[in-house]
Amino acid sequence: MRALLKTTLCTALVAAFVGCVNVNESTTVKVERSAEQAVIETIMTRRSVRDYKEEAVDREQMAKVIECGIYAPSAINMQPWAVRVVDDKAFLDGVTEIAVKQNPELAEQEGFRNFFRNAPTVAFIACPVESYSGEYDCGLLSENMMLSAWSMGIGSCCLGSVVPVMNSEEAKPYMERLQLPEDYKLLVAIAFGYPAGENPIAPERDATKAYYVE
Ligand SMILES: Cc1cc2nc3c(=O)[nH]c(=O)nc-3n(C[C@H](O)[C@H](O)[C@H](O)COP(=O)(O)O)c2cc1C
Repeated sequence: MRALLKTTLCTALVAAFVGCVNVNESTTVKVERSAEQAVIETIMTRRSVRDYKEEAVDREQMAKVIECGIYAPSAINMQPWAVRVVDDKAFLDGVTEIAVKQNPELAEQEGFRNFFRNAPTVAFIACPVESYSGEYDCGLLSENMMLSAWSMGIGSCCLGSVVPVMNSEEAKPYMERLQLPEDYKLLVAIAFGYPAGENPIAPERDATKAYYVE
């Protein structure tokens, strides 16, 4: 009986992770993946996407991404973050205008549409100015958001370059619209959107930076 239960459970688990992989535009193959493989595949294939379709990310999908974000661990479960998602084109274009005024070279980039790597949906991540582990915890939240997004076919890119522009005097009205709690600072913005091109190749990693100490 126990063996039967085990077999049934295993079958159900495998069935839950049967997914589709796009080999190319016209061919889709069904592959069976274990839960472990699915997580590893998501981590290893996630890349910073800098080329998006114009349509905003579906808000139901984005709700799941946010939920995955706030299920990240945080020191003594303080959840020291504030997440504000914007898919208002006028908002993103307004900040873009300010960024381009400050650095006109931005607009010379090929295919430039906005300052958020052309993303139609942007999450602004903030943490308390004074916090034991706010920045670390927000990093975990951010990665949860990016990985869960990628598992749903949504590309993302962390954008540290957005912070100084948002903190500038000209962008004050936009910062105010984010309604961040008092004594919070903007840490990073994350671009989200459906990828418009090929998945980028992974920049090289330095494997010597992590090793066992015997
Ligand atoms: C905190 C942080 C800030 C980043 N800021 C930017 C940025 O302003 N613009 C950008 O294009 N990419 C930015 N990136 C993306 C990195 O360039 C990218 O993660 C790195 O090159 C590795 O590539 P991969 O994400 O495709 O693996 C940022 C990443 C992090 C974690």
